Amino acid sequence: MGKDPRIGIFDSGIGGLSIAAAIRQALPAERLLYFGDNAHVPYGERTAEEILAFSTGITRALIAKGCTSIVIACNTASSAALVPLRLLFPQVPIVGMEPAVKPAVEHTRTGVVGVLATRATVESKALADVVERFAHGVEVIRQACPGLARLIDEGRFDGPELEELLQGWIGPLLERGIDALVLGCTHYPLVRPAIERIAGPHVRVIEPSAAIARRMAQVLEQHGLLTPGPADGSLECWTSGEPERFHAVLEHLGLQAGPVRKGVWNQDGELILA
Ligand code: DGL
Repeated sequence: MGKDPRIGIFDSGIGGLSIAAAIRQALPAERLLYFGDNAHVPYGERTAEEILAFSTGITRALIAKGCTSIVIACNTASSAALVPLRLLFPQVPIVGMEPAVKPAVEHTRTGVVGVLATRATVESKALADVVERFAHGVEVIRQACPGLARLIDEGRFDGPELEELLQGWIGPLLERGIDALVLGCTHYPLVRPAIERIAGPHVRVIEPSAAIARRMAQVLEQHGLLTPGPADGSLECWTSGEPERFHAVLEHLGLQAGPVRKGVWNQDGELILA
């Protein structure tokens, strides 16, 4: 497969595909290697130590496969691991996710915005810092959605169970007057139509995939890593879960990728992509 420069992208499961799709569209000449840690999803219910250990193993494996830049396409892993990973792997630029509080604050007229995220992200210092930096007097209501990432990872993008859960989280935010709703977990854009249906026409739903793709273009440029066109990029996917199921999700999302391959965690906590 060679050692061509490529962007390593990872998530606890399929959520980061919302980011991979945006990068694919914005940077069609780049070769992307995506790893979904479906064997360990959901990260949002795990400790910061576990999330850091998984993220470290994945980053090491992606670099060993020739990746020269990394995108942590997972808010939960970014909150727990972005800072330590940058210290551990200073040789590669690493881009992480940050809930899109800033555009929500710029948009709001009611002065109240909501953030949907995993429990780990809602409780993280990273989110608290973003709110402190950007809220400027706007009320930012953080709503944990336990179970939602797992449901989506199982491929349930619609249906009564999903609607009922979403209603339970979004309903109270609507009562408090939100007019912007940030999707602070990369799994959630995969059920955006259902979220928009429940949030209604007066609430702008905001997610950061296009912004991350633009950021990635800047970072690659700064590091002299941009692949020149014409487009000949690709998306190669690996999962620690079931490749067949992962492939079905790619089809559902209309993402072109070759066969999905299986990554294996060994007993020493190393991820093997072979
Ligand atoms: N996609 C993830 C995020 O952005 C993680 C979901 C999970 O594994 O709990 O937070």
